Amino acid sequence: MVLQAKETPLTITLTEEHEALLQAVRNFAQKEIVPIAGHYDETGEFPMETIRKMGEMGLMGIEVPEELGGAGMDTLAYVLAMIEIAKADVSHSTIMSVNNSLYQHGLMKFGTEEQKKKYITPVASGEKIGAYSLTEPMSGSDAATMASRAVLNDAGTHYIINGTKSWVTSGPVADYVVLFTMTDPDKGNKGITAFIVEADKPGFIRGKKEPKLGIRASATSELMFDNYECPVENVLGNVGEGFKIAMTVLDAGRIGIAAQALGVAEAAYEAAVQYARERRAFGGPIGGFQMIQQKIADMKTRIEAARMLIYNAVLAKQRGGRYTLEASMAKLFASETAMFVTDEALQIHGGMGYSKELPLERYYRDARITRIYEGTSEIQRMVIARQELGLR
Ligand code: CAA
Repeated sequence: MVLQAKETPLTITLTEEHEALLQAVRNFAQKEIVPIAGHYDETGEFPMETIRKMGEMGLMGIEVPEELGGAGMDTLAYVLAMIEIAKADVSHSTIMSVNNSLYQHGLMKFGTEEQKKKYITPVASGEKIGAYSLTEPMSGSDAATMASRAVLNDAGTHYIINGTKSWVTSGPVADYVVLFTMTDPDKGNKGITAFIVEADKPGFIRGKKEPKLGIRASATSELMFDNYECPVENVLGNVGEGFKIAMTVLDAGRIGIAAQALGVAEAAYEAAVQYARERRAFGGPIGGFQMIQQKIADMKTRIEAARMLIYNAVLAKQRGGRYTLEASMAKLFASETAMFVTDEALQIHGGMGYSKELPLERYYRDARITRIYEGTSEIQRMVIARQELGLR
């Protein structure tokens, strides 16, 4: 069935609450994150102190109701905050995004009341870190073909989990993980189940931290499960519904990644405009040259188009129902825009853009992941085209 294109509103209204959040997050990000971002990129340390502060501000559980320890706000608030944090540092925004969408969104939507109380509240406050684990060494884009297994024990009390998961964002530090693994391999994607696993239990083994091109302060690793005993009450949703849960969660996650991509694009763009005004060559500011003006015009246009697609996805999500198409379009366009803009901004800066003295090279390296994680640009195109062609 071809999904009907939904009405595309061109404006979005910010409430006083949104404006106040935006100002608070902008001030925090510029004062507390911008000055340390270079250091954490250089060392690859996990910025636990700022993450805790972000938790105190409610940024680790923006859409979680206040009674569960969150900020009780909406997806628009999440996106606005994400843009500001990513503008200061993509690594911080990655940690924030995994806690908010990949980890908490699934728990909020599919968790029992007990699971929500136990596993959302400490993560929404920033006291604990959450992660989401779908990918395996031999199963990335083709997410349904996983080799890890969970087998119910004879007493029917625990699933025994074995296998290796890879590219787990926050894997080296996560306290809790929403894990997808195969409970019935004969059923393909309908044999996958989601579990909430605790890191401090026997059989949970963290692999080595991945050395990465960008988002170096956001820790990524393999996770190994060696006869890990997961109680049946920690099944998230129903047995066999894990793949749909994983995909539903990724729809929400992809809006967050789109916002993150827009944030880093804005940071690079603003630096480029300032530089084009100040840097002089051939007797005038380089912004006077048409080749620089063309870059500025294209960067600005793509940034605003990405913002509209993100707002479109936010509105589709807030309207209810599936918003797979809107989320994929926003993620695809915003991440491609982030690459375009960070590259052009670096180019406008010339040699200075290539130097570690300015953050341009970090923006460029950090932006690159947005075209890969939570579904590559190729997967987003596949998702969009399949929906339009009625192939799913
Ligand atoms: N919402 C709800 N249900 C969905 C869905 C969605 N968004 N997408 C698919 N489904 C359902 C389908 O309707 C279908 O259900 P039925 O069988 O009942 O009809 C079922 O799931 C299977 O769907 P497909 O046949 O389309 O599945 P597929 O195997 O062809 O794969 C895919 C589809 C879109 C390519 C999917 O595998 C995919 O998104 N791959 C990319 C995975 C990805 O993003 N990985 C990143 C992991 S997270 C990460 O990056 C690490 C990190 O820590 C940040």
